[in-house]
Amino acid sequence: MFLWGTATAAYQIEGAVAEDGRGVSIWDTFAHEPGRVRDGHTGDVACDHYHRWREDLGLLTDLGVNAYRFSIAWPRIQPDGAGAPNPAGLGFYERLVDGLLAAGITPVPTLFHWDLPQALEDRGGWLDRDTAERFSEYAGVVAERLADRVPMWITLNEPFVHMAFGYGMGVHAPGRALLLDALPVAHHQLLGHGLAVQALRAAGAGQVLITNNCTPVWPASDSEEDLAAAAAYDALHNRLFNDPVLLGSYPDLSAYGTEVEVRDGDLATISAPLDGLGVNYYNPTRIAAPTGDGLPFSDVGVTGYPTTAFGWPVVPDGLRELLTGLRQRYGTALPPVYVTENGCSQPDELTPAGVDDQARIAYLDGHIDAVERARREGVDVRGYFVWSLLDNFEWAEGYHQRFGLVHVDFATQRRTPKASYHWLRRRLAGGDRPPS
Ligand code: FCB
Repeated sequence: MFLWGTATAAYQIEGAVAEDGRGVSIWDTFAHEPGRVRDGHTGDVACDHYHRWREDLGLLTDLGVNAYRFSIAWPRIQPDGAGAPNPAGLGFYERLVDGLLAAGITPVPTLFHWDLPQALEDRGGWLDRDTAERFSEYAGVVAERLADRVPMWITLNEPFVHMAFGYGMGVHAPGRALLLDALPVAHHQLLGHGLAVQALRAAGAGQVLITNNCTPVWPASDSEEDLAAAAAYDALHNRLFNDPVLLGSYPDLSAYGTEVEVRDGDLATISAPLDGLGVNYYNPTRIAAPTGDGLPFSDVGVTGYPTTAFGWPVVPDGLRELLTGLRQRYGTALPPVYVTENGCSQPDELTPAGVDDQARIAYLDGHIDAVERARREGVDVRGYFVWSLLDNFEWAEGYHQRFGLVHVDFATQRRTPKASYHWLRRRLAGGDRPPS
């Protein structure tokens, strides 16, 4: 069965940050520091999904999706990132999972979507190898409770973005600007992934995936310098996270004058077989020779395409290119692929008639077509999840970027399905799906 779903993440929608024993996450801390998030927005309330999840489940049911990707907030389960679980936290996700199952919707939880317990960050966060062990313990605790009902699990969401934005540049929590010294964060997340796979399997979990943010890398020209820079960027953004998982080896990072510090056995742990690769796609990246800022590339931006409200270029065929490129690069080592996020922010306007987000419809239509083309070209794609069900807290942009199929009025929490929601509902109801 091809999975059609929407995706969300705990800190972006739940709110209720101090309820039922939830601990503090790095995003609570970061968002409350002045100047970190646009206009000082925080996820304190967000979409209040913690209290309104039944209404949101109704929106999913009416939409007609057969899967829902959400994330579990580690600080709800282990408020300090270790030890005995908080029963209220587990209870919340258990009710959600049971509600989804009763509605015929496959729950696809992600165990880590960037909201590390602050207590672990205080001990070094993902710079500390022990965080990988803690993550595995947490995965085991959740799986012990839910593995009998959850058929598909995702360990990490976009470890590249968490490393680069959170620890490299400091524009996401935990706000550390270590540049290339952030590299251990890659290895420790990947090790955490591998150890979590073991914990999930031991608890009898069904399918296990990792979700990587992937981008087709376009060299700005055919010059040797631009080609080398593009290869260096590709190694950092894509291969650093796909190669160890799928091939059991790290790419060549010598362009960065660095290498990953690996202990015996780590790569075997990291490359344990998976049931699928989750891929998040938003846009391609155009790369030219370095400009002297210390990095071996410069990101010169993709031009000549329409852009989203975020300014991201809209290139649907980039998704086909990405998927077929993965197949070419990894061959039989590539497991089935699930597009676990794809979508766009638009300058949506709520009128008495609703939200007429034609640009989002065109975006989704184009990208779903791209998935179908990739399938025709032989890539085993088995799912597509729209980012996102609801307008939500878009990290450093706060509530300024709206990605939802459903408009949220953050003052009243009123949900209004947009034209794109009705369009997708009709499309799904029409059975207009790639063959399963
Ligand atoms: C991805 C994140 C997701 C959301 C989208 C727009 O990088 O995984 O939480 O913010 O971008």
